[in-house]
Amino acid sequence: MASGVSLVILAAGKGTRMKSPLPKVLHKICGRTLLGWVLDSASQVDPDRIVLVVGYGADQVREEAEREAQELGIEDLRVVVQEEQKGTGHAMQIAAAALDEDPGIVLALYGDMPLITAESLDDLIIAQQEAGEHAMVVLTAEVDDPDGYGRIVRDEDGALEAIVEHADADQDELEIDEINTGVYAFDGLSLLEHLPHLEANNAQGEYYLTDLVAMAVEEDLPVVTVTLDDASEGSGVNDLAQLAEAREELQYRILEEHMEAGVSIIDPQTAYVDYDVEIGAGTVLLPCVYVHRGVRIGEHCEVGPFTHLRPGTVLEDGSLMGNFTEAKNSVLGKGSKAKHLSYLGDAVIGENTNIGCGTIFANYNSKTKTKSQTVLGNHVSVGSGTVFVAPNHIPDHTVTAAGAVLLPSAEVAEGETWAGVPAERKKGRS
Ligand code: UD1
Ligand code: MG
Repeated sequence: MASGVSLVILAAGKGTRMKSPLPKVLHKICGRTLLGWVLDSASQVDPDRIVLVVGYGADQVREEAEREAQELGIEDLRVVVQEEQKGTGHAMQIAAAALDEDPGIVLALYGDMPLITAESLDDLIIAQQEAGEHAMVVLTAEVDDPDGYGRIVRDEDGALEAIVEHADADQDELEIDEINTGVYAFDGLSLLEHLPHLEANNAQGEYYLTDLVAMAVEEDLPVVTVTLDDASEGSGVNDLAQLAEAREELQYRILEEHMEAGVSIIDPQTAYVDYDVEIGAGTVLLPCVYVHRGVRIGEHCEVGPFTHLRPGTVLEDGSLMGNFTEAKNSVLGKGSKAKHLSYLGDAVIGENTNIGCGTIFANYNSKTKTKSQTVLGNHVSVGSGTVFVAPNHIPDHTVTAAGAVLLPSAEVAEGETWAGVPAERKKGRS
């Protein structure tokens, strides 16, 4: 019995149908690349090593893989380059060179299937172990539209006989609606023995990994299938429409996790929340919110409707951010409110401060082309339409009148009231 698991991810293709110079697997869903999603599921089965086959955009893909691997705690990532894409079988031959002499079970999948779950990969590993030495397991799916996929051909007893590619299929085979997802679990030693014997005598002139099935059948080796309960897990992303479809599913999975943790999401259809976002229990997301990766939202906050939280934003417990407000690299302190039509750019706002309607934290200096921060204290009362020009520091209990423009040169002391353009001191501390 094989020991351990090696996992191979094929990702050398360009993804021509994406109509983009960006390598396909680097397209993002919910703040994370397709490859990142696949590596996440892959790492959850805890393989001894992961071999990634790259080709088009090799350096870019390698860099992203290494970054994700570090984040996911994947210790043994081996990236190999397939210079010329001569088919999935050829890609696997290149991967094989990076495997150990006895690689254990070899689990193979593609870098463009972000919906595949660790549970399904585990099922495949278990099926391989149960089927015994030399066994090969193929993950299949029953789909409404099998167009383009390799078809699962079975004999009278229902045993897998061959996988026939769309381009090579006859009329009867084209009608089969069970397809090959492209995910397999191999006995590693058996795989290494058979790979060199693949030939490219088919309609596409490629080395097909799927030909290993026919070889195994011929040699009477065990070949079994596992069929997905949810066929969508097996779908790959080939164009931007499929990217949008996959996004919908992954988005729902993210929202479900937050809801299970006590976050109210009024309309999951219009809540756009990237992966790697923290939201505390008791917080409510109102319709039409966009929350980017890395944003942290505390407990009992209210966000939305129509709120855009960009990278680096922190909403502390009990704070409210609402209608048509955008925040970037900003902190809204405990119990503070920014409820209407405001822009918070590089703003650090204390506790129980109220940001009036239409307030702008002007963080960008177009002359120096630099961005600066504005710090507001606690219990500040910001009048409607105030502009804080950064860098700036506004201490506790300051009041600004409607339309005040606070220049960086304003030397505001605690408890003062400022008004006008540019704003001047109206009243000292009472
Ligand atoms: C492959 C399967 C098909 C299956 C389908 C599922 C074969 C021969 N066919 O077909 O049975 O239904 O996937 O999606 O395996 N790749 C490389 N190097 C290569 C060729 C491909 O790394 O030389 C990678 C691609 O980046 C891609 C994946 O392998 O992610 C699949 O390649 P693709 O050409 O799309 O395979 P299909 O023709 O769709
Ligand atoms: Mg192909």
